[in-house]
Amino acid sequence: MDFEACVVEFEKYVKKFDLTIIENKYKYEHTFRVVDFAKIICENENFSTEEKELAIIASLLHDIARFEEWTKYHSWSKIDHGDLGYEILSNNNYILKYVDEKYKNVVLNSVKYHNKIEIPDNLDKLTKKILKLVRDADKLDILNTQYNPYNEKSLTLHYDFDSKYDIDKEIVNNFISEKMLPFKEVTNIAEDIIYYLSYIYDINYRSSFKIIYNLNILDIKLELLKKVINDSEKYKIIELKIKDYLESNIKL
Ligand SMILES: [Fe+2]
Repeated sequence: MDFEACVVEFEKYVKKFDLTIIENKYKYEHTFRVVDFAKIICENENFSTEEKELAIIASLLHDIARFEEWTKYHSWSKIDHGDLGYEILSNNNYILKYVDEKYKNVVLNSVKYHNKIEIPDNLDKLTKKILKLVRDADKLDILNTQYNPYNEKSLTLHYDFDSKYDIDKEIVNNFISEKMLPFKEVTNIAEDIIYYLSYIYDINYRSSFKIIYNLNILDIKLELLKKVINDSEKYKIIELKIKDYLESNIKL
């Protein structure tokens, strides 16, 4: 397997798209930040050299469909970009030719399932291990960029943080039950911040929880949420729940 050769092919592929478009540029940079998070998790979780190589290749390729998706649909929610990524990589063997034959399905399925609500049960142990890591690394970068006023890469900085918003009771209940919120239920900025906070319920590795802690992701999001929420009781419930969840997962 050859990660560097995959990077060269990935760059060639991405150059077919207009990277001056802010959404394409964001996904391009996001890809490499996800690779960096993946490397850190592999080190901390003691992945073997082969597993690490697989994990960073899968991370590099996880959002390959985003460029075609934005260029065609100007949206990130019209199609399933995991499925499209699987298709692009299966049809264009030039990137996957740098992955050992026996591991191709691990990479393909890690791309396909990185964005699904749940990890399917029928995947083999190695695929699950790599897939969980890609899902963590992906979410870590999204958590660290979106709704982070200290991160210039954020796409959510132009939102109106001076207004106050209602939060649906169901969204709070869903949050308490440690479920990732369905994006379609989000109707305003406060709910959107809660939606991103709920990503933490889908984090798999202990070292990923530690990264969330070290990057101060929780406090930064909660500070913003407090500003835009119009119900301090609901805020308190959410704050207590997520702080407790993070703490208990770090201690595990
Ligand atoms: Fe991603």
